[in-house]
Amino acid sequence: MARKKIALIGSGMIGGTLAHLASLKELGDIVMFDIAEGTPQGKALDIAQSGPVEGFDAKLSGANDYAGIEGADVCIVTAGVPRKPGMSRDDLLGINLKVMEQVGAGIAKYAPDAFVICITNPLDAMVWALQKFSGLPKNKVVGMAGVLDSGRFRTFLATEFNVSVQDVTAFVLGGHGDTMVPLTRYSTVAGIPLTDLVKMGWISKEKLEEIVQRTRDGGAEIVGLLKTGSAYYAPAASAIEMAESYLKDKKRVLPCAAALKGEYGQKDMYVGVPCVIGAEGVERVIEIELIGDEQAQFEKSVASVRGLMDACAAIAPNLA
Ligand code: APR
Repeated sequence: MARKKIALIGSGMIGGTLAHLASLKELGDIVMFDIAEGTPQGKALDIAQSGPVEGFDAKLSGANDYAGIEGADVCIVTAGVPRKPGMSRDDLLGINLKVMEQVGAGIAKYAPDAFVICITNPLDAMVWALQKFSGLPKNKVVGMAGVLDSGRFRTFLATEFNVSVQDVTAFVLGGHGDTMVPLTRYSTVAGIPLTDLVKMGWISKEKLEEIVQRTRDGGAEIVGLLKTGSAYYAPAASAIEMAESYLKDKKRVLPCAAALKGEYGQKDMYVGVPCVIGAEGVERVIEIELIGDEQAQFEKSVASVRGLMDACAAIAPNLA
């Protein structure tokens, strides 16, 4: 059986890390694409030369022409501009929307059967636009946000409790960004919900709320520290987990920005929900009952994503 082909559209900081991780995990051969000449070729060559040392077999190449992604099984999209300090994800909207139009056309022409994972921000609006521009089936186009947001939440919780990150699970819903909805009653340490851990005295309500807020601001915290760009190790690792679940038909249950068809009372939009990712792409959206202020928080998040979609449609009326 021939190796799978993974196309990385955008070969910047996240793109390079994606290529490295996909190589180390031997997920397939890798084509790095970028408009910057030399960048994808240089990174591909550098990572290929780590192969003999690390002991992985993967062919890596770079391309500045979309023909290079022909027949890709998975496309991971990071093309665009990242956040600079003081810039919100939404500031990126106008620039990155144009990039999504080009990327969508390239994927439609050369890799129409691929599973497409979008990372470019503002995520929920960009993945929605990318699906429309590419015309690929909605179950084959998905956004990476929830795995990263829950990874941040799990890291902070594991540190707070002094337990292994492996034993902490987190459940997040909604858009990527300030309105993300972490569900504490479905987030656990070895199956014990955070709400019970509060009762057990492991953590105060106030401290938990602090951690929730730090998770919401997780991207901005890193932008503020790096000063010249945004996070890339954890975003890349998160997208690779999604790609691996598709390629190996693992049917992992992962929070992703998925196209809703009436679930959670929403349709014709992308927002973060728990999904089963397998060989068919997004095979199922898991709909849980929201209680108390969860529903209001989710609606606030949906409204914020819809605001971004409206802003996109004002720039590109063919999206409406
Ligand atoms: N087509 C292809 N590649 C493009 C295009 C385009 N039209 N426009 C820009 N790029 C490339 C840039 O040349 C650059 O190499 O996209 C790459 C982006 O890489 P970085 O600037 O290093 O950004 P990165 O940190 O990888 O983040 C990429 O993911 O998390 C989001 O907010 C982040 O939107 C940003 C994206």
